[in-house]
Amino acid sequence: MAMATAVANARNSAGGFIFDVIGVDLPTPEGRAKVEAVNSGVLPLATTDEELVAAFDSAFRNGSLRATTDNRVYQLADITVVDIHLDVSRHENGMPTVRFDGFKKAIATLGDTMRPGSLIVVETTVPPGTCEKVVRPLVMERLRARGLSEDAILVAHSYERVMPGKEYYRSIVNFWRVFSGTTEAAAVACQAFLTKVIDTERFPLRRLHSTTASETAKVLENSYRATNIAFIAEWGNFAEAVGIDLFEVIDAVRVRPTHSNIRQPGFGVGGYCLTKDPLLAGIGARELFGLDHIDFPFSQRAVEVNAAMSEHSGALLRDAFGGSLSGKRILLLGVSYRSDVADTRYSPSEVFVRAVESEGAMVVSHDPLTTFWQERNQELPAELPAPQGFDAVVFAVAHAEYQTIDLRQWLGTSQPVVLDANNVLTPVQRQALRESGCRSMSVGRGN
Ligand SMILES: NC(=O)c1ccc[n+]([C@@H]2O[C@H](COP(=O)([O-])OP(=O)(O)OC[C@H]3O[C@@H](n4cnc5c(N)ncnc54)[C@H](O)[C@@H]3O)[C@@H](O)[C@H]2O)c1
Repeated sequence: MAMATAVANARNSAGGFIFDVIGVDLPTPEGRAKVEAVNSGVLPLATTDEELVAAFDSAFRNGSLRATTDNRVYQLADITVVDIHLDVSRHENGMPTVRFDGFKKAIATLGDTMRPGSLIVVETTVPPGTCEKVVRPLVMERLRARGLSEDAILVAHSYERVMPGKEYYRSIVNFWRVFSGTTEAAAVACQAFLTKVIDTERFPLRRLHSTTASETAKVLENSYRATNIAFIAEWGNFAEAVGIDLFEVIDAVRVRPTHSNIRQPGFGVGGYCLTKDPLLAGIGARELFGLDHIDFPFSQRAVEVNAAMSEHSGALLRDAFGGSLSGKRILLLGVSYRSDVADTRYSPSEVFVRAVESEGAMVVSHDPLTTFWQERNQELPAELPAPQGFDAVVFAVAHAEYQTIDLRQWLGTSQPVVLDANNVLTPVQRQALRESGCRSMSVGRGN
C-alpha cells in the first residue's frame, strides 16, 4: 500500500503525476475490504506517518490511485510491482521452507496476461535465486504458451527498506535502493521506473550483477539485524544477574564508529520480516540451488533466540512473585511488534501472553494504536487502563504515548510490580517509579 502510494504520487519536473496505479488484492474478505477502502479514499492501514496519509490523499484526489480484485487489469499494466507475502513454514523434520504456491500462481497470472514489453518488478522478500529459478522460467513458459517471445515480459528485482512508523513514506521515496534484472533490458527498465519514484539524485540507485545478488542483499540486511539483536540478549541477562546497566554499557561502546549500531536488550523481535527473513538464504541454498552443505547457523539461531525473548520477561515476573504466576493479574502495555506502529503480526506480546496465561496468569492488554488484536481476535480498551487491581504492569512497546505517562499520578496509591521490558520508560519516569515505592525491574538492567 505504501509503495502503491509512492508510485501514484510520483511527479515529473513540471509537477504532473507520472503513473496511474491500480492496486490489486485477492478477492478474499480482507482483500475486498482493502480495495473498498482505497476506492473510498481511505488508506487501509493504521499509520502514524502524516506524510503517507497526505500522499495517499493527493494521489486519490488526482485519480491516479485506485484498487481492484479483478486480475484482468494486468493486461493494462506497463509495470507490475509484486509486493505479495511469501510465508515461511516448516517441513516435518523442522527445516524451514517457503510456501511457493500462491506466489507462483500470481506470477503465472502475470505471464498469462501482461503485454509484450511490460516489466515485472519483484519486491516480495524471497529466497535468493527466486527470480532466476522460479519467476523467469515460469513467465517464459507462459509466454511460450501464448506464442510470444520468451523475453517479451521483463523480470527485475528490487527490495524495499521501508521503516513502518513516522517515516514510512520517506523510507520509500528518500532512501537508497538496490536492484537488478534477469536481463540487461529488464535492469534498464527497472532503473528507469525507480528513478521516477525515488529521489535518486540524493539517494542513488545501486545495481547489482544479478537478481540473486539483489535478493541476497535483502535477506543479508535483515539477517544481520536479527542476529545483532539476538546477540545482545545474553549480555542483557548477564547485566541483570551481576547488577549492571547494559544500556549504560552500550552507550559507552557505541562511541566507536565500528560499533555504533550495536542493538540493545528488549522484549523480543516480531513483525513479518525479521522473524522469517534470516531463514530465506538457507531455503534458497537448499531448495533452489540444491546445496545441502551450506548452512546458516547464526541466522537460524537468531530467529530462535528472538522468538523466545519475551519468555525472559515472563521469567522475571515469575521470580518476582516467588516462582508462580498463578492467579496474578498482569497489565500488558503494547501489543504491536514495534514502537509507534499498529502492526501486530508475530508480536512478542502474543508469545508473552500465551506463556503467562498457560501458567495461570490473567492478562489485560492495551495498545494506543489499536483497539483490536487480530491475531488473538481480541478487543482492546481504547483508554489506558488504571493500574489498580493489577499485580504487575509490563511496559512492552516503547510507544510515544507511554513515555508521556505521569507515573506518580497514574499509579496513585497502587503498588504493582512494574517491569520495563523494552527500555520504554524515560529516566524521569524511572526516577518517579523508584520514589513510588513500587518494586520495579528492567530487562537489561540489574538492580
Ligand atoms: N511490511 C514491511 O515493512 C516490509 C518491508 C520490506 C519488505 N517487505 C516484504 O514485502 C512483502 C509484503 O509484505 P507486507 O507486509 O506488505 O504483507 P501483507 O501481507 O501486509 O500484504 C500482502 C498483500 O498481498 C495480497 N496478496 C497475496 N497474494 C496476492 C495475489 N496473488 N494477488 C494480489 N494480492 C495478493 C494479500 O492479500 C495482502 O493484502 C513481503 O515479502 C515482506 O517480507 C515488507
